[in-house]
Amino acid sequence: MYGPGMAELYDLLHEARGKDYRAEAATVAGLVRARSPRAATLLDVACGTGAHLRHFAELFDKVEGLELSEAMMARARAAAPGAVLHGGDMRDLALGRSYDAITCMFGSIAYLEDTAELASTLRSFAEHLAPGGVVAVDPWWFLETSLEHHVSGDTVTVGRRTMTRVSYSEREGRTSHMVVHYVVAEPGSGVQHFAERHTLTLFTRAEYEEAFTRAGLDVVYVGGIQSGRGLFLADRGGRAARG
Ligand SMILES: C[S@@+](CC[C@H](N)C(=O)[O-])C[C@H]1O[C@@H](n2cnc3c(N)ncnc32)[C@H](O)[C@@H]1O
Repeated sequence: MYGPGMAELYDLLHEARGKDYRAEAATVAGLVRARSPRAATLLDVACGTGAHLRHFAELFDKVEGLELSEAMMARARAAAPGAVLHGGDMRDLALGRSYDAITCMFGSIAYLEDTAELASTLRSFAEHLAPGGVVAVDPWWFLETSLEHHVSGDTVTVGRRTMTRVSYSEREGRTSHMVVHYVVAEPGSGVQHFAERHTLTLFTRAEYEEAFTRAGLDVVYVGGIQSGRGLFLADRGGRAARG
């Protein structure tokens, strides 16, 4: 999962498919600041290639990232050179400091396997939250909104490289199995093909909300944004719900 081949193509493919990381970072920063106007420090959990982090770096005084895949983190280092990056697993978050904002974007939270992991991970997010801080989680599709089968495909040309990404997702109970195939062609280099497999948990909206509550956080769900997946905002003391 998220090896070097994937890391190299990740931003090119998602941006070419219309994902606007700058706009998403601005939206999340705006929602955080509406609840915590002086928010200055941010941790992006499962930051991937740093595609949000590089924009968060323009919007917050100090930004940090945490990422499991070394290949993805190498890209993040280049994308957000001012950010402190931590290699590690969000399930064992123990950074010894706190942040005004903690984000976890683009469904990364769904790599957690069950509600016990979801609850303990959100509890550790809460433990890393500075007083008045806000957690923002961009979830994967809910069990109730996920499709039984889903196919997507895009071909993009960037510079001399033409890339095709085709994905097939299948739901099995509370799990979404996604297989992604990549074909990359470049004059002089020929054609390369590789595939990756992802297993994502389909939590219900109520399970997310319960896990935030069990972590001692008040949570609100903002629907419609993040390509329809929505966004959870949570804090201690109910400002997330009021903002
Ligand atoms: C869909 S990508 C999202 C990356 C980035 N947040 C974005 O919006 O482009 C999911 C990321 O989660 C990371 N990841 C998966 N499980 C993780 C874990 N347990 N702890 C930390 N990162 C994890 C993967 O390595 C990958 O970079």
